[in-house]
This record gives sequence, C-alpha cells and structure tokens, in this order.
Amino acid sequence: MWKKFNQLVHWWDKPVSEEMREFRQKIVIKDFEFDLMPAKHSDLEDIMALEKAAYNDIVLWPMSAFAEELRRTRDRLYVIVRQPETGSMVALIGAAFRPGIHEVHITNIMVTPHWQSRGVGTFLVMYMMTIAQQINFHRISLEVRVSNKRAQELYERLGFQIVRRKAHYYGEDGGDAFDMAQILGNQIDNELLI
Ligand SMILES: CC(C)(COP(=O)(O)OP(=O)(O)OC[C@H]1O[C@@H](n2cnc3c(N)ncnc32)[C@H](O)[C@@H]1OP(=O)(O)O)[C@@H](O)C(=O)NCCC(=O)NCCS
Repeated sequence: MWKKFNQLVHWWDKPVSEEMREFRQKIVIKDFEFDLMPAKHSDLEDIMALEKAAYNDIVLWPMSAFAEELRRTRDRLYVIVRQPETGSMVALIGAAFRPGIHEVHITNIMVTPHWQSRGVGTFLVMYMMTIAQQINFHRISLEVRVSNKRAQELYERLGFQIVRRKAHYYGEDGGDAFDMAQILGNQIDNELLI
C-alpha cells in the first residue's frame, strides 16, 4: 500500500521517467530505417535547422525556447529521428505531460521536407499516443493552425477531433488555431500502424 502510494506521488511529481528519456532505438517506417532517441541540449543547432526547413524559414520557436523545453526533464519529452547513414535530423516531436488532468499535450511536431509524406509524422504522433497510454494518461491534445489542413488530416486520421477554435492564437501573424484532442482507449487501432 505504502509502495503504491509512493509510486503515485512519484508519477505525479515526475511523469516523464528516466527510462522514457534514456533510449536509442532503430525504427523502420515504410522500408526506411531511422534512429529514434530523446533530444539533448547538443541537438539544438540541428533542431533550429529542422525548424527552418519545415516551416519555410520562419522561426516559430527561438533556440532559447527549445533549450528551456529540453531543460524541463520532469514534464517534457522531446524525441528526434535521425537518418542512420548521415546522422542528419529527420524529425522531432515534443510533448508536455500534465498529470493533474492525465493529459499529454503535443507541443511541436516537424518533419524535414525531404522526408515528409513517408509516414514519419504519423509514426511520431502514434509514438506519443502509445507513451501516453503506457503511463495511464487518458487524453492527448495539440494545437494546429486552421490553415494547416494537411496536419489536421493526419491528426483526424489518428482519431483527434476539433474541440474548439482559438482566435488570433499565433503571435507571428494573428492566425487562428484549432484545439484538437482525443480520449485514449486501451488499444491503438492496429489498422493505423505503418
Ligand atoms: C505535418 C507534418 C508533421 C506531417 O508529417 P509527415 O511525415 O509528412 O506525415 P505522414 O507522412 O505521416 O502523413 C502525411 C501524409 O501521408 C499520408 N499517410 C501517411 N501514412 C499513411 C497511412 N498509413 N495510411 C494512409 N495515409 C497515410 C497522409 O494521408 C498524408 O498524405 P499527403 O502527404 O499526401 O498529404 C509535416 O508535414 C511537417 O513537418 N509540416 C511542417 C510543420 C507542421 O506543419 N507541423 C505541424 C504543426 S501542428
């Protein structure tokens, strides 16, 4: 009983465990092999280059914002994908863990243009959905630009629904965002697995 209570306190205080951030894994997505690993401070320059490429030279988060996120090891998890032969960065997904409401909030996802439309984005969203389920978080959410139909389609295909529209959400140009979310069951639909 005491052990269970201690586990619960630990989970509440530090939802992202050491095991979740200490790994390096080979993954295969549609016949291509990649390396998957947590992002570290030493990845910051590559992350900035990825952001520039994915968002057409627009800097949405300055390096200091990514650095601050990577410092928050207790309740943030940033995972990157690299190409094994060249080591070049292919993609990143980040999430904030909110134990109070059992929610994982995807803060950022980007895939470098060369590797887009090959299932990497789908894999990364499903990866975060799986992590959320493994640690008994029941809700996963994100914000997406109302104009970003392609990303919305991807999220809808994976079970997200629009919850509400946030007017003038983006500081850069005053664009609106959709809040999208889904309640996670115990099983992810295997049909969606790549
Ligand atoms: C949005 C983004 C992350 C998607 O990543 P991606 O790796 O290109 O996504 P996927 O390849 O997994 O899925 C997208 C496409 O593949 C298709 N697809 C992938 N896997 C599929 C599957 N198993 N079954 C059916 N369709 C699939 C999707 O329908 C979609 O089609 P399209 O390329 O013809 O439009 C990426 O485009 C990106 O980085 N964009 C710029 C940054 C951005 O907008 N981020 C999102 C902010 S909210």
